[in-house]
Amino acid sequence: MKSTPLTECIGSEIEGVDLSNTSKEEILQIKQLLLDRGVLFFRQQSLSSQQQAHFVERFGSSVPQTWMPSVCPNVYIVESLPSESYNYRGGFMNWHQDSTFFEYYPHGSLLSAQKLPALGGDTLWSSTQRAFEALPDSIKRMLLHLEALHDLTASRIYRLDPFMKSTDIKSEIKHMLDNRPCIHPVVEKHPLTGKPCLFVNRVWTSKIVDIDFALSEALLQLCYDWISKPRFQVRWRWELGDVALYDNISTAHIAIHDYSDTRLLYRSDFRYD
Ligand code: SIN
Repeated sequence: MKSTPLTECIGSEIEGVDLSNTSKEEILQIKQLLLDRGVLFFRQQSLSSQQQAHFVERFGSSVPQTWMPSVCPNVYIVESLPSESYNYRGGFMNWHQDSTFFEYYPHGSLLSAQKLPALGGDTLWSSTQRAFEALPDSIKRMLLHLEALHDLTASRIYRLDPFMKSTDIKSEIKHMLDNRPCIHPVVEKHPLTGKPCLFVNRVWTSKIVDIDFALSEALLQLCYDWISKPRFQVRWRWELGDVALYDNISTAHIAIHDYSDTRLLYRSDFRYD
């Protein structure tokens, strides 16, 4: 297996491995690289849905995402249709970590490219671990004591757009009621590396708790601006069959919505055992 770092702080391209048929040793090696680099890219894997779900199982337990459409257990559809380009999906066009509105949010995920626009549709990842490390000590000390509320409804509101049918709206409201807000530290300690990572995002975080709302907004803005600095980032230009495997604590990501055709990725999640 060959690993080529794509930037100094985040992301490596991995060659010489077939993800549909990996040995125990290869999985251990991939897991270590994932912890070291935050996100790993594999070209031309073209995994079937079953192979994708099976590969991800080797990193930990699955995290049922009842609110997402799926093709089989733990293979979720991440799709943007031309007609939807600039409506509710716009809610996800911000830096985020996935599903942090769950207490048991995914520790990591895999995305695979199923259908791509002729041009554009890249995804960027940013190292929330390196971003935290690079903050001045005084700010780090302050953030280490804070917790924030994460709330599905903070972003679901984007989905209640004027084009929605009433049956869809009813099912959206049910999702909102089924998923209560939860609280996470603003700086999450990674369960395997023990390293502190910034853990707030524009999509699901609604407020830092126990402080004034204006102060919470200012501190969240500071974190969001910091996470989105280009020096912490890597950008992936998808090709069909590609796989990206990412740690959902030590990285955040953003999909670039600069296209008007259909784009389809499949996502599978895991929590480290
Ligand atoms: C996401 O934004 O959660 C998925 C990433 C992508 O669509 O590129």
